Amino acid sequence: MSPCFGGEGEHKDAAAVGFAPGRAEELMSTPRRLFIAGNWKMNLDRAGSQRLASAVADQSYAYTKIDVAVCPAFPYLADVHEALTGRRVALGAQNMHYEASGAYTGEVSPTMLADVGCKYVILGHSERRHVFSETDEMVNRKVRAALQFGLAPILCVGELLAEREAGKTNEIVERQLRASLNGVSFEHLRGVTIAYEPVWAIGTGKVATPAQAEEVHAHLRKLLTTMYGADIAQGVRIQYGGSVKADNAGGLLELPNVDGALVGGASLKAEEFLGILHAAARLAKSQ
Ligand code: PGA
Repeated sequence: MSPCFGGEGEHKDAAAVGFAPGRAEELMSTPRRLFIAGNWKMNLDRAGSQRLASAVADQSYAYTKIDVAVCPAFPYLADVHEALTGRRVALGAQNMHYEASGAYTGEVSPTMLADVGCKYVILGHSERRHVFSETDEMVNRKVRAALQFGLAPILCVGELLAEREAGKTNEIVERQLRASLNGVSFEHLRGVTIAYEPVWAIGTGKVATPAQAEEVHAHLRKLLTTMYGADIAQGVRIQYGGSVKADNAGGLLELPNVDGALVGGASLKAEEFLGILHAAARLAKSQ
């Protein structure tokens, strides 16, 4: 299966179109489109998922310059896919196994996700790492499997509060980034979105300050530059995640190295999520 990366619409940005040898320079020089994804986690029932997806999709006319995705729970992926059909909002999953099939009771494979219409998959979320003990090595296997089967990973990295207080933020995100991208080629990196999510900011209402976010995002881009070269690193989108809401989104999304948001709690309320999308769309227009 050939990789299918990127968001909806006729975009031409480096992070969202398939790699074509010889066009890399041209692609890398175009700006990164803002990408907002809603992580619904283990919330909503079937009707609620369909309603929320429709409410977001109904406003999709306003999002021509940004990429948008929603990531419902596994059982409702197909229902939400149906609600999004023909709209500018893409479907994502929250996790997956790294094998295509087999005796892995309770797991869901990359091919299954692609089969029900997923374009994106969140991998290495801090709740997977810290509640379900996922290691960097497992996350790396998942990232490579997602890319192999044409899914675009949203790869999460981020430090715990104690790690930040001990001055280890850069070290932690570097370890996570390098290990999770082990063996990922520069052609494939084009399909990856990085999400910086400080664990202390997730679901706590304590959003990182713009200065804190920009510092880590710039560090991540520097690391990507070391690993893949400047042209490639400039094309990779780095989302911020952790207590993003309509009233703080603008201040984060306008930062030079923040290319979108991974939104948890606020993505469960249509009005709040739409407020974030409008903030992003306004910035995209003024770029
Ligand atoms: P939050 O979650 O927006 O509720 O802090 C973000 C996330 O977990 O991705």
